[in-house]
Amino acid sequence: MCGIIGIVGETQVSDRLIDGLKRLEYRGYDSSGIAVLDGGKLKRSRAEGKIKSLEAKLNDTPLDGPMGIAHTRWATHGVPNETNAHPHFSGRVGVVHNGIIENFTELREEMSDRTFESETDTEVVAHLVDHLLSTGLSPIDAFSAALKKLRGAYAFGLIIDGVEDQIFCARAGSPLAIGIGETEMYLGSDAMALAQLSQKLIYLEEGDWAVLTPTSFRIFDSNDNAVERDITILQGGPAVAEKGNYRHFMLKEIYEQPETVGRTMHNYIDEFRLAADAPEGLDFTDIDRIIIIACGTACYAAMVAKYWFEQVAGIAVDVDVASEFRYRNPVVDKRSLFMAVSQSGETADTLAALRYCKEKGLRTAALVNVMTSTMAREADVALPINAGPEIGVASTKAFTSQLTALAALTLAAGRDRETLSRDGEIRMTRAMITAPRLIKEALELDPKIEQIAFDLSKSSSAFYLGRGSQVPIAFEGALKLKEISYIHAEGYAAGELKHGPIALIEDGTPVIVLAPYDTLYEKTISNLQEVASRGAYIILITDEAGAASAHDMADEMIVMPSSDGFVAPIIMSIAIQLLAYHTAVHLGTDVDQPRNLAKSVTVE
Ligand code: AGP
Repeated sequence: MCGIIGIVGETQVSDRLIDGLKRLEYRGYDSSGIAVLDGGKLKRSRAEGKIKSLEAKLNDTPLDGPMGIAHTRWATHGVPNETNAHPHFSGRVGVVHNGIIENFTELREEMSDRTFESETDTEVVAHLVDHLLSTGLSPIDAFSAALKKLRGAYAFGLIIDGVEDQIFCARAGSPLAIGIGETEMYLGSDAMALAQLSQKLIYLEEGDWAVLTPTSFRIFDSNDNAVERDITILQGGPAVAEKGNYRHFMLKEIYEQPETVGRTMHNYIDEFRLAADAPEGLDFTDIDRIIIIACGTACYAAMVAKYWFEQVAGIAVDVDVASEFRYRNPVVDKRSLFMAVSQSGETADTLAALRYCKEKGLRTAALVNVMTSTMAREADVALPINAGPEIGVASTKAFTSQLTALAALTLAAGRDRETLSRDGEIRMTRAMITAPRLIKEALELDPKIEQIAFDLSKSSSAFYLGRGSQVPIAFEGALKLKEISYIHAEGYAAGELKHGPIALIEDGTPVIVLAPYDTLYEKTISNLQEVASRGAYIILITDEAGAASAHDMADEMIVMPSSDGFVAPIIMSIAIQLLAYHTAVHLGTDVDQPRNLAKSVTVE
């Protein structure tokens, strides 16, 4: 995720902006930049590489002023170089951005008379606001009008040449906080960036935008109504700051997913070409099989990937839990690719499986969230998911980022093995690009899911059912519920229940059914009716078309945003994460550090 910081005040800002970028370092970056208004004139300095490169530049050519914005970039699409580094300029406007502008190609086409210098989606925002200013709109009206033309998940900071006392900012899907000072105002991607500047923070809500001046701030909702937002007083150290105004790290990480899925995707999908490229060192045309080994949640991501690789790329996939794999003396050959999936990159069983296959001469890859981890170092190819630090023991954003990376690798494999047509690749990359926005829409179901969780919290057991690529999501839903609420739950292939476990269904047994309106929907619904007729309490998680067809078959319904079936497992994950989270909160368990668990199991 990129990092944003801004200051508007009376004293020079450059040093404090650079300090703020350093506090955003954990978010990763490969280039950075700063823009200030110096005597009302817009100036900037940008550098490829770490922040110290930018500092060196500023030492040679100082830049300063009483207001400015700065940015660390995690290369999305567009190589990490100075041209693609933020802030991006167009005419009078400078902007820093974190997230995805989903419709940036259309907007670029609409402004084809303008000269674009970078390969980024961000630059289109600077051009859009500059264009609207040129039509005579005031700065605030130009900014507000520009936001209405954008689609995606983003957070912005924007300044305008000649407008010496106003910073404009907005959030939709990527977090943004305002810091309140006496004679200065601040904006930042998170509290970590602002902790040194102010202890009084306001976390903008979905769709909010704001105008900051040295002594004031005005916040507007997505309908341009002026709104008041709570002020959070930061107490305690950076750890508290990291949680921001979220009650638990797990909830914060659930809400980060529009941003983290977008960032993961940028690493593997080129939104310009609507193409997925196999990472350096991975040749999908030279293998007959993929062996994916993982544990827990990571293994469920691997199970979803089996459906994708086999259906889209025509590659046979074996998935196994790491603790079993090497002890069963598996038959492996050098025409197989071994892939470890691991958030921490340190899980002992998974690492042992990687070493086993490396010894057998297989090509090895590790899909990890920590690129300095042992698995990343020992695998032939390290594949980042870029989800940022995951503090909650129950994995959430890492799971959807694992799915996102695996989905992109599937498209690359399908393209390279010529099992996926160019039209298919375009359709499926387009579907992936909508995922951050659909996750953002799914998060708006939070209050409804919290209500349902209240009743679920009174149960002693639950079933999760799915078919096809929703079966691993059923497994994951059951695991989430078990590991943080301590309610026993089982995930099952919906068609399998009648072969025994249906004996457990009695009056009021909660059964969570995952059924997007796809080719397996009708079959899943008939399984739903089998358990409903035996008294089960049905929570149906579906989409608009599924809800319309289900009528009143379910006791509760969670209607997710409709999505292409390819990305449905990613979108449906949001519901099962929130369901488990709120159930645990109702029960008062330790959500971030559940009993008996550890974030990374580095022992066998
Ligand atoms: C997920 O919620 C659990 N905390 C656990 O299953 C975890 O996914 C598993 O231990 C694997 O960890 P890893 O991804 O770091 O290898």
